[in-house]
Amino acid sequence: MGADASGVGGPRVLAIAGSPRRHGNSERLLDACISGLADAGADVDELVVVEHDIHPCRGCNACSSTGECVIVDDMRDIYPRIDDADAIVVASPVFFATVPAVLKALFDRMQPYWARRYALGGDAPERRPGAILIARGGGDPYGPEAAVTTTKSVFGVLGIDCLDVLDVEHVDGPADMGTHPDALESAKALGERLAQEAWRG
Ligand SMILES: Cc1cc2nc3c(=O)[nH]c(=O)nc-3n(C[C@H](O)[C@H](O)[C@H](O)COP(=O)(O)O)c2cc1C
Repeated sequence: MGADASGVGGPRVLAIAGSPRRHGNSERLLDACISGLADAGADVDELVVVEHDIHPCRGCNACSSTGECVIVDDMRDIYPRIDDADAIVVASPVFFATVPAVLKALFDRMQPYWARRYALGGDAPERRPGAILIARGGGDPYGPEAAVTTTKSVFGVLGIDCLDVLDVEHVDGPADMGTHPDALESAKALGERLAQEAWRG
């Protein structure tokens, strides 16, 4: 919890923008969610994955021996931001039924958390709340399930209980979310709920 001994300061919430396209539909959902988080007193740390140098996991399994990743890139600064968060919200488009490669690269680099717990026998992570925001074109038979399941799998190793999933279909052009004011309101409301859960934590 980010509050200090005098009660000043709110919960720290890591808000992850997972699209390779800046200021598109999922990021607009995240912006609305951040507005709700801020209104409810959260201290928001926004992580725009495409702005970072995040290499793919090599599957070298070094983390199963040491608990640490051997790759030297921006994850060295991102791991502490994940650790410090009282709650995490992930915003993602659907790309070929799942999350885009830039976000999957971040997700695969969570393997050290899995390794510490299951290969090295570490303690279970402290529970914290999370939420998922999905933007997708739709019109295909596959839906958002794989993207949501992939994100929940990562939440599992991070000790995150998913409070809710907001799935917005029929958004494709970068400004399409602007024609879904109800979805933006829902994202803001979800941000408020997430902050309240984090306060309780
Ligand atoms: C490479 C690529 C693959 C996509 N695959 C899907 C898909 O499988 N299902 C779907 O509903 N939309 C798909 N879309 C559409 C995006 O989900 C949609 O444009 C979304 O609004 C993008 O969000 P963003 O603006 O946050 O990037 C795809 C778009 C791209 C560029």
